[in-house]
Amino acid sequence: MKILFYDTKPYDKESFDKVLPRYPELSVQYLKTDISPHTAALAKGFDAVCVFVASDVGDRVVEILKDCGVKLVLLRSAGFNNVSLKAAKTCGITVMRVPGYSPQAVAEHAMALAFAVNRHIHKAYIKVRENNFSLTGLCGTDFYGKTAGIIGTGKIGAAMCRDCHGIGMKVLAYDKVQNPDLPFVEYVPLDTLLKRSHLISLHCPLSEETYHMINLEAIEKMQDGVILVNTSRGALIGTEDLIKGIRQHKFSGVGLDVYEEERDNVFENREDDILETSVTARLLSFPNVIVTSHQGFFTHEALEAISTTTLENALSFLKGDPIKNNIVS
Ligand code: NAI
Repeated sequence: MKILFYDTKPYDKESFDKVLPRYPELSVQYLKTDISPHTAALAKGFDAVCVFVASDVGDRVVEILKDCGVKLVLLRSAGFNNVSLKAAKTCGITVMRVPGYSPQAVAEHAMALAFAVNRHIHKAYIKVRENNFSLTGLCGTDFYGKTAGIIGTGKIGAAMCRDCHGIGMKVLAYDKVQNPDLPFVEYVPLDTLLKRSHLISLHCPLSEETYHMINLEAIEKMQDGVILVNTSRGALIGTEDLIKGIRQHKFSGVGLDVYEEERDNVFENREDDILETSVTARLLSFPNVIVTSHQGFFTHEALEAISTTTLENALSFLKGDPIKNNIVS
């Protein structure tokens, strides 16, 4: 099976090259460029394409892939909101993903953001480097004994519940389906979670139902001084509403690994660019907001799991095995 990799970064190549010798049936070609209606035709002659989380696999790209004879889209990610599943189904293209490469990696990054904004680590780091050893502006709150509200208790949300429980927080959760492995968690309606939580962390997928679930109405229900963390998908939060909330001093801290305008930024070095869109620039201007660039997944353990599962997916498709990680088949 010939697989064309799009949007390949050096660390992708390194981790896939390590496991590829175990899969002599698969041959791989790496491209730096991402997939788009302009680059999808490069897949002619390949059986499969492998893409990442910000790749545009919309209707047009799927149609081009079909015309190129591509039968399989391999996502090196858990999230799949960047793929037109409807078009894939119509075009007879199978879509497979890596459902849970390291839930702990993302949960630990969510915790890192929560700890950092709470104790102003981003400011402390800069101050001390400037020989400013004053504590003014650095006061935080104990998490111990406070309430965490976890929205979505699948693999990552469950890991986050365990982490919060481990540091002595009471854990509330909201999900459509209750996770039986979390006996210490109290499931409550969303409104109750918003009202009672000191730390709110988002771990549900982006869908029509969850789009902008954190809007002005939701923000108004939250406690003053709440910490909000999003490591899931940017559009779970209405950014304009978030900015209004920040300006109204609702949050003591906001930690975002994902945000609505991230697509052009994710994994790119844009240090010489002028950011033309004002929303990201405005978010970056607030002293109590930390933004990271979709790095929640980025640990050695997760990269190894991503490369192994992606190639196992390709192999099971090739062999016609009962498929485990398909979203569309
Ligand atoms: P999962 O599928 O194991 O869990 C998602 C949970 O959300 C499920 O329990 C589901 O019932 C719940 N859910 C779905 N719709 C909901 C709704 N309307 N209201 C409340 N809960 C709802 O997914 P997993 O692996 O835990 O990943 C969660 C999200 O994390 C992914 O969808 C992805 O967007 C994001 N992610 C972010 C990464 C990063 O690097 N920042 C890396 C990997 C995933």
